[in-house]
Amino acid sequence: MSPSRRSAGGLPLEPIETASVDALRALQLERLRATLVHAAQHSPHYRAAFAASGVSPQDLRSLDDLRQFPFTTKQDLRATYPFGMFAVPREQVVRIHASSGTTGKPTVVGYTRRDIDTWADLVARSIRAAGARAGDIVHVSYGYGLFTGGLGAHYGAERLGLTVVPFGGGQTERQVQLITDFKPDIIMVTPSYMLAIADEMERQGLEPRASSLRTGIFGAEPWTNEMRAQIEQRMGLQAVDIYGLSEVMGPGVASECVETKDGPTIWEDHFYPEVVDPATGEPVPDGQPGELVLTSLTKEALPIIRYRTRDLTRLLPGTARTMRRMEKITGRSDDMMIVRGVNVFPSQIEELILRQALLAPHYQCELGKDGPLDTLTVRVEVKPEFASAGENPRRAAAAELEHAVKSYIGTSCKVQVEPVGAIERSIGKAKRVVDRRGG
Ligand code: DLL
Repeated sequence: MSPSRRSAGGLPLEPIETASVDALRALQLERLRATLVHAAQHSPHYRAAFAASGVSPQDLRSLDDLRQFPFTTKQDLRATYPFGMFAVPREQVVRIHASSGTTGKPTVVGYTRRDIDTWADLVARSIRAAGARAGDIVHVSYGYGLFTGGLGAHYGAERLGLTVVPFGGGQTERQVQLITDFKPDIIMVTPSYMLAIADEMERQGLEPRASSLRTGIFGAEPWTNEMRAQIEQRMGLQAVDIYGLSEVMGPGVASECVETKDGPTIWEDHFYPEVVDPATGEPVPDGQPGELVLTSLTKEALPIIRYRTRDLTRLLPGTARTMRRMEKITGRSDDMMIVRGVNVFPSQIEELILRQALLAPHYQCELGKDGPLDTLTVRVEVKPEFASAGENPRRAAAAELEHAVKSYIGTSCKVQVEPVGAIERSIGKAKRVVDRRGG
């Protein structure tokens, strides 16, 4: 049976969303060639990088030949700060975004008018895939400004013809007031900030499930399927995953279809995905885990070739669309903690926390030292309804989580069950790892 020509919300799909795999691969090859030529001709960085690897755009005869081309890293963007990677005259750049990063200079990206147009189309496609219906109201709580979340979501929702409430991050009390008064159908926000909004609803005596929200389009940070189940249950909505990164575009590189909720569909007509072994850089076959590497197929201002995202996932066959999916991201290689030789991702801890009835999904992992040994302390809040639980149930929950971490992940940790509100709330991406080991 061919996939439906309409989205779950009844809106018509673009023909490419249901095109055959052969047609898609042919389009990718044509666009990849054009991108390599554009990069070689107009970007001094890529001209030099291709020469150093002894490759030229003519060497690309099939999509597989892409593996001969050099990677691009965040370091390359930093080294050419601020505008050195642009492949069009600066006057043709109509928008700048930047990601703050944890150290040093921000990573700066630029867009031509056509790039902004493509981005709006892809976020519109993502919102449609999430089950948007004609006439929906979209509340945007991703931050506006240099972060790509707010404006990316905004342009996409407008492009789809929906009514946008451009709230941005913060002012949680007022967010709740406007959600109550404007009755939006869809919210676009980080999953961790969704929880803060839900907490605030409850603090105001509102029942989150009674809100008008039908759909949540969550991304910008890793979140587990356990977190999805908990948010859906608590908010009474469908939660879908939107993925993207500023270096490659912003939100809308990939997004989940609500009818399957089985990992974001990569919008492969605009991005070519590979998964590589993070240590060797060798591509691995579809289905195998590794680091996602993305190549833009239509970008003008900042063509990006084989960008090392540091995000860990697997490529999976298409389901609701013919394009491939990526498995929900389990973590960033940057976020991986090595505790006494065992690799641990915050998402693994999250999964185990959410299995404990007493514990809330507000948590932080602290790395420290005990002499020469690394220590991991998981700070996690008690759920408000158990706020008055005595010392014993808390101790029991801590002991159970410590035991689960030891048996499922294989490392010892100390669990500290904290009062409601003890873990700092972020209004955007949550900070899950605090490293206190120094040097
Ligand atoms: O976070 C773009 C975005 C905004 C995506 C809003 C989705 C929604 P950056 O600030 O450049 O851009 O951060 C990109 O965030 O490499 C991932 O590590 C992480 N990330 C983004 N989306 C997801 C997701 C935006 N759905 C980095 N799941 C990426 C897991 C995500 N991690």
